[in-house]
Amino acid sequence: MTEPRLRIRVLGSAAGGGLPQWNCGCTNCMRARWGEIPSRTQSSIAVSVDGRSWAIANASPDLRQQIADAPVLWPSGARESPIQAVLLTNGEIDHVAGLLTLREKTPFAVHATAEIHRMLSTNRIFDALDPAVVSRPAEALGVPFALLPGLEAELFAVPGKAPLHVEEDTARGDLEGEQTVGVAFSDGMRQVFYVPGCARLTPDLVERFAAAELVLFDGTLWADDEMIGTGLGEKTARRLSHMPMAGPEGSLAAFAEIPVGRKVFVHMNSSNPVLDPESPQRRTVEGAGWTVAEDGMELYP
Ligand code: MLT
Ligand code: MN
Repeated sequence: MTEPRLRIRVLGSAAGGGLPQWNCGCTNCMRARWGEIPSRTQSSIAVSVDGRSWAIANASPDLRQQIADAPVLWPSGARESPIQAVLLTNGEIDHVAGLLTLREKTPFAVHATAEIHRMLSTNRIFDALDPAVVSRPAEALGVPFALLPGLEAELFAVPGKAPLHVEEDTARGDLEGEQTVGVAFSDGMRQVFYVPGCARLTPDLVERFAAAELVLFDGTLWADDEMIGTGLGEKTARRLSHMPMAGPEGSLAAFAEIPVGRKVFVHMNSSNPVLDPESPQRRTVEGAGWTVAEDGMELYP
């Protein structure tokens, strides 16, 4: 038997919509359709320490396919699953719609803040997860809890926004509270952070990341005006609550002085030029010590 060891599998490395996105004819989406650059499913990782029981952080609309593509997540008997826990970092569609794939009365726990649970409980479609078998523990910020045997998790506030599908006209980005969180995973020896959405690095975040072996971080957009410049949307990265990679307030600059063991971008939007492995932007991020995650990538911090 192999030694217990923190292990991450990137199930989906794209932001909401995936790559290609159904209605998008941008260069990246077309090239992904033609097989010229890797396609990507939507945002999720799986975490384990023993390789037998797994937690899923964020349940993407592509979860069914992601499980089919990951033999470690296959059942070993009739009506059984290695997936014992699901953890949610916000209530966005790309992070919760996959819960609907997990109906069928196999027990697991959905860990999230009370605010994220409130959003799920006000939408009756999630009643498909039978409360008799699927528990929904509400986790307080800053209080570690057992996610799996041998694996602790702690949720912490990250500047973010209300989920787009419940957003009011007066909504703003950069809210700090229970609606968007990051996760610290620990096996008692190593610490890994997972932050797929983040509007900016606060001093608290900088302090947390300083001791980390591995940080998986928001790689949604390359530039603040990317959605506008590519004609794909009207909002800046800042308004979307995703700090861009480039620029003086971007993640490359913000992480430059933080001594993180390994830095991996996740949750890339289809517009992001780093999705092209040959792009100058990909060279820049790799030169700054970052890896751009791909679906199926395994990380052993
Ligand atoms: C986000 O994190 O902002 C979402 O991925 C946006 C979306 O679902 O389009
Ligand atoms: Mn998202």
